[in-house]
Amino acid sequence: MGIKFIGVKEDANVYTVGKDFCLEHAGKAVLRVTALGLYKAEINGKKVGDAYLTPGWTCYHKMLQVQEYDVTDLLQKGENNISFTVAEGWYKGRLVYADKMNIYGDKTAVWVQLIVDGKTVVVADESFVAKESYIRYSSLYDGEMQDFTAPIKDLTVCEIPFDTSVFVPQICEPVRDIERLAVKEMLRTPKGELVCDFGQNIAGVAEVSTPEGFEGTITLQFAEILVDGNFYTDNLRTAKATDTFVVRGKKTLCPEFTYHGFRYVKITGCELSAKCVTAVVRHTDMKRTGTVNTSDAMVNRLLENVVWGQRDNFVDIPTDCPQRDERLGWTGDLNAFCGTASYNYDVRLILKKWLADLRNEQAEDGKISHIAPDVIGYHDTASLWCDAIVMVPWKLYEMYGDVSFLSDNYEAMQKYIAARESNCENGLMAKGFEYGDWLALDKEQCLCESGNYFGGTDVYFISNAFYAHCLDIVAESAAILGKTEDAEAARRRYERLLQSIRGEYFTPAGRLAIGTVTAQALALCFGLAEEKHRERLAKELNENVLRHGCRMTTGFIGTAYLLFALSDGGYHETAGKLLLNREYPGWLHEVEMGATTIWEKWNSLLPDGTPNPEGMNSYNHYAYGSVMEWVYRRVAGIQYASPGFRRVKIMPNAIRTLDSVHAEFESVNGKIVAGYEKHGNSIRYFAEIPEGIDAEVCLPGEQTVPVGHGKFVCEREISPE
Ligand code: BGC
Repeated sequence: MGIKFIGVKEDANVYTVGKDFCLEHAGKAVLRVTALGLYKAEINGKKVGDAYLTPGWTCYHKMLQVQEYDVTDLLQKGENNISFTVAEGWYKGRLVYADKMNIYGDKTAVWVQLIVDGKTVVVADESFVAKESYIRYSSLYDGEMQDFTAPIKDLTVCEIPFDTSVFVPQICEPVRDIERLAVKEMLRTPKGELVCDFGQNIAGVAEVSTPEGFEGTITLQFAEILVDGNFYTDNLRTAKATDTFVVRGKKTLCPEFTYHGFRYVKITGCELSAKCVTAVVRHTDMKRTGTVNTSDAMVNRLLENVVWGQRDNFVDIPTDCPQRDERLGWTGDLNAFCGTASYNYDVRLILKKWLADLRNEQAEDGKISHIAPDVIGYHDTASLWCDAIVMVPWKLYEMYGDVSFLSDNYEAMQKYIAARESNCENGLMAKGFEYGDWLALDKEQCLCESGNYFGGTDVYFISNAFYAHCLDIVAESAAILGKTEDAEAARRRYERLLQSIRGEYFTPAGRLAIGTVTAQALALCFGLAEEKHRERLAKELNENVLRHGCRMTTGFIGTAYLLFALSDGGYHETAGKLLLNREYPGWLHEVEMGATTIWEKWNSLLPDGTPNPEGMNSYNHYAYGSVMEWVYRRVAGIQYASPGFRRVKIMPNAIRTLDSVHAEFESVNGKIVAGYEKHGNSIRYFAEIPEGIDAEVCLPGEQTVPVGHGKFVCEREISPE
């Protein structure tokens, strides 16, 4: 439409462009803005909207979001001022551990259109004036530097060419400041440093207020853990995560274009008191849809940790972690966590946007990027990771019943299947990069070989299992979309692959030849074992888990399936023991060690409280939070029986040592409640089904019975052990 992007000629990390203008009358006003970088818009000195990190992260050359704001109330008749502060953000700033800069371009810029009563009155052009900002520097990894004392120099506006045909309206909820946390404890560490403990690992920023008469520099540094009581940042790798403010006088300070993953804030330059420091939780503003409460405080804390892990990592895209020099849209992490995520929150829009990026990043030959938006350039058919293009749309279709998740991604799924096929030899997956059962503890070398993260399960067994699962999904998706021939072709290929898998990985007598927990769990969950051999396999899996003392040895892949395999194979009690185990390695062990989010590895913190010397220790990775989906579906028993929960199967299943579980889930068809409570020798199962949802109830060991809507309570005697 002829409106330009403008930036500045000079090399400025952050700058402000704007102008004064006159309105004959102030009518209904709409501001449309986007940027190559990040922007903050202001009208007459007031911030426009309440979003942060706009215009968000997309693969910018294919899709750039334009935000639209109603600014009627900010404008006045007569003189007005409009300005835009622009920072580098994901577009040009430092991203990825390899210190990549300028990934999308070497010039930041802003694009603006202000429309009053249907008439465009301001557009970004050479009539704008540019100057430095009090924000001298800002980086997502390294933090922000604000100086309120330095002189502000003028800069030179210039046009920055960029193809506006990639514009799209804002797709998902914006990133907002969601919650404010007070300091829980003000600490003086053994090293003598002043550190605030907020009691919770979050994604966000800290807001500080300087006292009257203050003059100087305040520096804030951010950390997830203390080691030996001291502030510890080695696990942030190269991310400096430091905010600096140069101030004269009383002022409230907060960074604009960055965020950190932290529980602790170290303050230097001013002895601030606790009431002068607040943590501000900053993430995508999704609607909460699910909660689970149990009788066990440790389990509740674990589930809270899962929810915090989601909040801290749904920052415009689903990231792996919020603290170190990474924070990337890793496909495998999301694929493992997507089920839990979509019970906890309405993730339709943020994942619709992310899937658009994943499709945009797909290689010509159908291979899928390991992260989206892609800034590392790897494309493969890696199980769980690259399979996100098939499995995530399917999961969202199941959870929300929205067929557009399938239709939008169908072509990409088909291309991906062809890419997987090209990595087959003699009908079986035999080539291509695999992460395996990432971070599993069941490979001997893990004990001595640093950086061996692939786990003990044969990676091509995993690959074949996931390929079969993807083919199954594609066959179903094609059938739902009315593509009968595709459906039949995918189904035929699925059947052939299944036979090949059975020939290759099962003994002639039907025993699974790979003895790891993960292999057994996948064989059960993906239907690889023949029906007649399933019972024996489930028994073997159960024995295997018991042999490991009901401790977690599985990685990203095995962990997402293990508890389902046990519950569905008749060993629900063992699954419960895995959940409730307090010994290392396990979920409640982390809670016992003081975790307030889910760790990347079972041993990110060693049992003695020191960080794993191998490195790569994030204390806020959500993949192992996949367990919460099992709690919703197999313990509380809120299980979809048709897409979008039009039909629901209520199948609460108590764990002996967990006295009560109460889950609520606001599905797209209404709110469903389910769970159980024990009273002495009896157990009361309960459910609430809204009008418009057909429910059937299936209590342990009983026939499934159809019920209508309303409240249900069934009381049963507890059978002796
Ligand atoms: C990330 C992940 C990711 C993995 C894959 C890590 O650096 O944090 O969670 O899935 O790499 O290699």
